[in-house]
Amino acid sequence: MPDDLTPAHRSIEAEIRAKGPITFARFMEIALYGEHGYYTSHITAGADYATSPQMHPAFGALIAVYLYKAWQTLDEPNPFHVIELGAGDGNLSKDILDTVATSTFDSFNQSLTYHPLDLHPRGSARPLHNLPESIPITGCIISNELLDAFPTHIFTIRNRKVLELYVNTDENHQLHFIEDTPSTDEIPNRVGDLASTLPDGYRGEVNLRIQAWATKIKSLLKSGYVLTIDYGHDRDTLYHPTRGEGSLRCYHNHVLGQNPFRHIGQQDITSHADFTEIDRALLHVGFKRMATLQAQRDFLFDLGFGQYSQRLRSAAVDDRHRGDMNDWNQQLKSLNSLVDTRGLGNFRVAQHSINAPKIDLSPLEDAPIFPLPSPQSHHLDHIPYD
Ligand SMILES: C[S@@+](CC[C@H](N)C(=O)[O-])C[C@H]1O[C@@H](n2cnc3c(N)ncnc32)[C@H](O)[C@@H]1O
Repeated sequence: MPDDLTPAHRSIEAEIRAKGPITFARFMEIALYGEHGYYTSHITAGADYATSPQMHPAFGALIAVYLYKAWQTLDEPNPFHVIELGAGDGNLSKDILDTVATSTFDSFNQSLTYHPLDLHPRGSARPLHNLPESIPITGCIISNELLDAFPTHIFTIRNRKVLELYVNTDENHQLHFIEDTPSTDEIPNRVGDLASTLPDGYRGEVNLRIQAWATKIKSLLKSGYVLTIDYGHDRDTLYHPTRGEGSLRCYHNHVLGQNPFRHIGQQDITSHADFTEIDRALLHVGFKRMATLQAQRDFLFDLGFGQYSQRLRSAAVDDRHRGDMNDWNQQLKSLNSLVDTRGLGNFRVAQHSINAPKIDLSPLEDAPIFPLPSPQSHHLDHIPYD
């Protein structure tokens, strides 16, 4: 094989040569999580993509408020466990724990036991098996941008039928797609009746790991809440005829691409989460839908984002003679990116519960209860897509 192929490309090619074309889910598994995969060996925090916890500490501070309300709603259990799945480098946990360490949260701080876990942990995150001893827990299971990183299958429509795209290689080591019958009936079943509404050549993704994720969560949580934040849509929007190219996206050095066969193992590959399936899978194992699917912007405003941003602006005005206004402007821009509906603000937030009353967030809108945190070294000092 030529020297310029990445190690992950070589592994994929070797598997195709040994076994024949592979599903895109298998390709993604090797490219992201294999021995030379992006999340296994290549990732550098903030180098390729920017998530909400990397943008501004307000995200973690507002999630801390959510957890505080959850704890109060459950009658202040001690311990109150929070398991964060797909915690990456642990940035969100740092911001949450810093917020909860402030005096306002005193007794909550005594009860909170936080477990930031990841398949390939970095920074302060821990491996997935580092679970609390007392499983199933009382508390919350949270994730930000976890499900979009799961390997997905790709389908296409031919004559109103669902076919699957497989990955093949040629004599020049070029990877390419070929169409064939689906590797499992679950793929056409998921697309269902929508297949007849989609144009010939339409491409979409199907994440077949959501039910296993929901079942796992059920085994971890006795009573409490599941908070799932990700980019994605309900099924009708996700598989809309106008989205003919699907939602597969690749990120390399903050450049958005759609070719998964470039920089293999050195770029992130994601697809939008199917929130209809997330909801169905959680209800199937016994969870209740606690709130309608919301945009991240609305969710953060419910938690007091408006007041928070006003306080930050006032602090900037008070400081205008002493501080560097460029820093303040940058901070306000980073803060606003969390609610900008052209990006992170348009993410979806799903809330589910089990053996737990509904959390009432209404008193929070006008009453932020935590001090303003400042960005630290684990936050990006610029907006990469600006
Ligand atoms: C896009 S990153 C998001 C990281 C972090 N939550 C953030 O918002 O910055 C996705 C993370 O999910 C992790 N991951 C993927 N599959 C996982 C699984 N089955 N269980 C736990 N973590 C997983 C990856 O290793 C990666 O760190």
